[in-house]
Amino acid sequence: MASALVVNADDLGVSKGATLGVIRAHREGIVTSASLAVTTPFYAHALETCVRACPGLGIGLHFTLTSGKPVSPMHQVPLLVDGNGFFRWGFVSLLLATTVRAPKELLDQVEIELEAQLQRLINDGVRPDHINGERHIHLIPAVFDRVVAAAKRHGIPFVRLGRDIGWDHAVLGHWAGLALGGGMLKSWLLSRLTTRGRRRLGGGTLFTEHVASYLYTGRFDLLMKSLLKSPPPHGTLEIMVHPGVPEESRNLALGNSELERYLTSEDRRAELSACIAARGLLDGWKLTTFASLARERAEPMIVPLALEHVDQVAALHCATLTGLLSELGAPAVRAFYTGCVRARSAVGFVDLHNGEVRGFVLGSARPGGLKRAVLRQNPAGTTAGVLLGLLRRPAAIAWLMKSFKGPDEGGFDGDEPELTYLAVSPTYQKSGVGARLVDAFTRAMSEAGVPEFALSVDDDNAAAAAFYERRGFKPIGRYREFGAGHRRYRLRT
Ligand SMILES: CC(C)(COP(=O)(O)OP(=O)(O)OC[C@H]1O[C@@H](n2cnc3c(N)ncnc32)[C@H](O)[C@@H]1OP(=O)(O)O)[C@@H](O)C(=O)NCCC(=O)NCCS
Repeated sequence: MASALVVNADDLGVSKGATLGVIRAHREGIVTSASLAVTTPFYAHALETCVRACPGLGIGLHFTLTSGKPVSPMHQVPLLVDGNGFFRWGFVSLLLATTVRAPKELLDQVEIELEAQLQRLINDGVRPDHINGERHIHLIPAVFDRVVAAAKRHGIPFVRLGRDIGWDHAVLGHWAGLALGGGMLKSWLLSRLTTRGRRRLGGGTLFTEHVASYLYTGRFDLLMKSLLKSPPPHGTLEIMVHPGVPEESRNLALGNSELERYLTSEDRRAELSACIAARGLLDGWKLTTFASLARERAEPMIVPLALEHVDQVAALHCATLTGLLSELGAPAVRAFYTGCVRARSAVGFVDLHNGEVRGFVLGSARPGGLKRAVLRQNPAGTTAGVLLGLLRRPAAIAWLMKSFKGPDEGGFDGDEPELTYLAVSPTYQKSGVGARLVDAFTRAMSEAGVPEFALSVDDDNAAAAAFYERRGFKPIGRYREFGAGHRRYRLRT
């Protein structure tokens, strides 16, 4: 199946040269989407010549606190501007100012300005389908929380929260440049902030699983061919580009000399040419926009468990399931599912709706080897997760030791194919999610040639036992483990 690809041009409206670059990269090249900055004098030009003239181009907000002037009345946002009325922040200074002390007044003004920028777009008839930040300021923790809240408030489906896949394509010959140019540090820091953002996101806001690339930002021409040759194994990709016509971006006076140098660099023309040349390289890709992706994801779907689901699955596991893994706590559970995704022997599915994991199922045709496979696939994460869990709950040591011994009374074949975990968020129980997950798991087992599989239910979980029995699972025995009784069931696939 073709991989979904959004090619998004940042910096629309930052300068005339940037806008002209976006228009050409869309009409002649592979750009399907653009993020519009509303804080410079070139906004009106972008609105007329690009947004209104290119109806197929997806448009989002390029939230800006680092160049141009605020949209809000100056007296409402004095902490955002310098003496000349230009934004006074850069990424690092804003990160430090909002993270070290998190001054409420400053954050309130960030929120006022964010709302004003969105309102400007909406008042001009634009329905933004995504938000990201100039200089990636949307990833700064205190800013991120406000961006997500604003996206939800306005029904904007996507924020930029993809994992950087530039590293998979980095060429040895570029390493020195990437290290000295700050690309490596930038990619590392933004990846950390992305991980944090995903943990805090909750449901309802979408993101592409991958982004390309913070590592190569501004030099996408160097990465384009290699990246398009090998689509990622799963998930959607946003390619972030900065095409431009440098000579049309001279003498800008945006209060940000670094940005002005960037817009007049020949790299902008190189990225524009790369976007046009890439038209012939789209085998295996389906070009799309954030709005189209959002429409597709509005339908609930069952998809294979992947890395981008792990945080939500782990939270759901801890909230709904008992057992040793839950006792060890969230880091151990996350490490387990990360290992499962990488281990070929695990079979997992999630029910996804608008980016929210509503339920999941996980098992294996060879459960006996699954724990070892998880440890092999994620040794550092698993060891750290288990140690952290034991530090937090020393009583779990006894459980861990017992788990090597097997059940206290009775027993079962630990190598028999098994559905090991099934859970549905309490909000969505009794709406058919559990049944669809069991069906998906049963189908996968049958397709793998597994004639039957087993599962265990706690004695005191009568609701789950009834759920399975009504789906044809037959009781095959009982055992006691960790001080509790369990029933064992089996289903023919
Ligand atoms: C057990 C569990 C996975 C079931 O998931 P679920 O999503 O609620 O299951 P479903 O909605 O598919 O089915 C539950 C019942 O709701 C009914 N149902 C389905 N859609 C419905 C709807 N729209 N309105 C009312 N009832 C509905 C189903 O018919 C089913 O009834 P039945 O069992 O009598 O046939 C879920 O309760 C859960 O996660 N529990 C906590 C964790 C747990 O115990 N896991 C199992 C460990 S072994």
